[in-house]
Amino acid sequence: MSQDLSKDLSHNSSQNPSHNASHNAPHNAPQQNSSDSADLGTAISAPRIMCLANQKGGVGKTTTAINLGTALAAIGEKVLLIDLDPQGNASTGLGIDRAARKTTSFEMLLGEASLAEAICDTAVPGFQLVPASMDLLGVEVELSDHERRIHRLADALAEMLQQDGTSRFSYIFIDCPPSLNMLTLNAMVAAQSVLVPLQCEFFALEGLSQLLRTIEQVKASLNPTLDIQGIILTMYDARNNLSAQVDADVRSHFDSLVYETVIPRNVRISEAPSFGKPALLYDHKCAGSLAYMQLAGELVRRERNRKEI
Ligand SMILES: Nc1ncnc2c1ncn2[C@@H]1O[C@H](COP(=O)(O)OP(=O)(O)OP(=O)(O)O)[C@@H](O)[C@H]1O
Ligand SMILES: [Mg+2]
Repeated sequence: MSQDLSKDLSHNSSQNPSHNASHNAPHNAPQQNSSDSADLGTAISAPRIMCLANQKGGVGKTTTAINLGTALAAIGEKVLLIDLDPQGNASTGLGIDRAARKTTSFEMLLGEASLAEAICDTAVPGFQLVPASMDLLGVEVELSDHERRIHRLADALAEMLQQDGTSRFSYIFIDCPPSLNMLTLNAMVAAQSVLVPLQCEFFALEGLSQLLRTIEQVKASLNPTLDIQGIILTMYDARNNLSAQVDADVRSHFDSLVYETVIPRNVRISEAPSFGKPALLYDHKCAGSLAYMQLAGELVRRERNRKEI
């Protein structure tokens, strides 16, 4: 992590009252009694804002954002995915060509457009996107002198939720780049929780402690209510003993933080983005699609339990 970001992390947000006022807005949006959202597919009134983060590349952050988002939309949730990765894989995977990305998360972070203005529809009803462009590569430099550079996304979300009331989205996902950089920090400051995809491979746990440390640092200095939403095991290969070993290791360390649902390695999942489609639209019966549907159900159930506690 750069020295600049370490400075951002050690800066206590309580010294900045305007941050608290705006950042708390989405978190404090009125909560509907959980018993009112009777079953899967019933929209909840305040959005749950989660970022998908793991500085390890290629672990399934974007694939999970796209397919979990699609699965939630399929059961009636209203979902927004904010693509915060200069690679723009979530935007491509949802069929939004680079040429069609008129207003992106870059303009939103710079304050040249509101979050609402950057939202576009996808082919999935109930699933909208803020696309990303390569311009994001320059955002760190563009915002280097900006006092609230790591609060840009939190501020934009607070503004949208204040204007919207609370009913437009039930879930907001933020897809992070494979780095603990300023974009990921913006996501962690704006989010209520972090969803961590872990690939079932030998080095799965390597780097996880760095990620957990960063989450703790953000929690201590910038976003006291930030939580770990859960750990999702991805690319599980049943023919491979290693996958079972990683599964057992991760569960012994993190226990119920790990989702019961495991995403299998499935070629249909990796083919779908080249058609600009979520796997659930490309082949809704493949093992990967079924797993993401199951994960959506588990996530909604856990959310309901969390609110009841
Ligand atoms: N369950 C799966 N089965 C097969 N292939 C998968 C699965 N999940 C992801 N992939 C493939 O693995 C690659 C990496 O996935 P993905 O882009 O979602 O990871 P990422 O963590 O977002 O990567 P990055 O760190 O570069 O943003 C992609 O080619 C994707 O299609
Ligand atoms: Mg990605």
